[in-house]
Amino acid sequence: MIKVAIIGAGAISDSHILAYLNFKEKCQIVAFADLYVDKAKQKAEAYNLNAKVYPSYTELIEKEEFDVASICLPPYEHAPTAIALLNSGKNVLVEKPMAPSLEDCDQMIAAAQKNNRLLSVVAQNRFRTPVMRLNTVLKSGIAGKILFGKADSLWWRGSNYYDLWWRGTWEKEGGGCTINHAVHHIDMYLWMMGMPDSVLAITTNLNHTNSEVEDFSTAVLFYKNNAIGQITASLIHHGEEQQLLFQCENAGLSLPWKVCSYNQRENGFPEENSEKAAEIQAYYDSLPEVKNTAHNGQIENFLSAIEGKGDLLVDGNQGRNSIMLITAIYLSAHLGTKVDLPLKEDCLFYTRDGIVKNAKKFHKKTKSVDNISNSKITFGKEF
Ligand SMILES: NC(=O)c1ccc[n+]([C@@H]2O[C@H](COP(=O)([O-])OP(=O)(O)OC[C@H]3O[C@@H](n4cnc5c(N)ncnc54)[C@H](O)[C@@H]3O)[C@@H](O)[C@H]2O)c1
Repeated sequence: MIKVAIIGAGAISDSHILAYLNFKEKCQIVAFADLYVDKAKQKAEAYNLNAKVYPSYTELIEKEEFDVASICLPPYEHAPTAIALLNSGKNVLVEKPMAPSLEDCDQMIAAAQKNNRLLSVVAQNRFRTPVMRLNTVLKSGIAGKILFGKADSLWWRGSNYYDLWWRGTWEKEGGGCTINHAVHHIDMYLWMMGMPDSVLAITTNLNHTNSEVEDFSTAVLFYKNNAIGQITASLIHHGEEQQLLFQCENAGLSLPWKVCSYNQRENGFPEENSEKAAEIQAYYDSLPEVKNTAHNGQIENFLSAIEGKGDLLVDGNQGRNSIMLITAIYLSAHLGTKVDLPLKEDCLFYTRDGIVKNAKKFHKKTKSVDNISNSKITFGKEF
């Protein structure tokens, strides 16, 4: 039986608890930690967990026996917590974003390697049927080369979203909607289209005044093979119409799932290529359904990898890829120029210190609350 500890008893911890509870034959939640011990106690009771509760991860590591941990803490705590856990021989599943800086990510990956333990980063949206299928369709080549890829990571949050103590600062949240919201779509986009060779971006804050960080960014990505990408992250979009879109040589494919294909007429104008569209649709339909979706799927994958029954779908290097592109977006906006990838260790934003010292603070965070009483959250589009 795999013994599990949950670290952080806030909004996202429910998704982890429910997912582990789905695999009762493989694992058992034995411990819980939160700065606010009562929060952890209440949650342990609500889910009928026979779990011991601790006020810190250090005490939990010192006193408890367990094999794996889910880190559900604010981003600035991800690296120190993951490194301490890995160094004490635990396997780690860390919430997104992996960490606020590339230096943090590198130290986490090194700790996993040194201790021969698994490190997985939450990217639960990969574990959905349309997302898995689109990735397979793109990689099969049936639609031809990708010419243009686009991720619209459009969300809406009220201004009081940033009242929570750790949100809205470069130091604790690590950035705004690009790192904390768009990371979901950036993970899927990079999984499907790969890392660009350079990025040109702007960031701004349009309507969240209790926050140092951006609530809008848009970036153009350039690939060696001449393909172009475009990623927009926003917290001002009523309707949250999120999408991924890939225009390939032979067809356009998007999420929410849609396929469209054109042939040229004699004058170069388009006509529907219903045969190609039907061929792609048939291939898409033939691909397997994802049985356990979102956090359930990711935690199933994590537990199976621990049992030696398969590889992690999202390991530390994949989590790092998203942070590298996000860092490049921040750096390009800061410098006002195109930035080349991969970023190197001597880049201004490689360390958290470099980001905190140099990134533009759009507003001063003046209001801060310890807890928000109704912590129920909504998630992005399920596609
Ligand atoms: N995958 C997703 O869809 C998704 C959705 C929401 C949040 N998240 C991520 O999950 C993480 C947590 O977000 P949340 O919304 O649950 O935040 P939250 O503020 O609701 O919960 C965080 C909890 O950690 C506790 N905490 C903070 N520092 C601690 C420490 N040093 N030791 C012990 N406990 C500590 C806080 O008291 C709080 O209860 C963030 O990285 C966030 O980006 C992911």
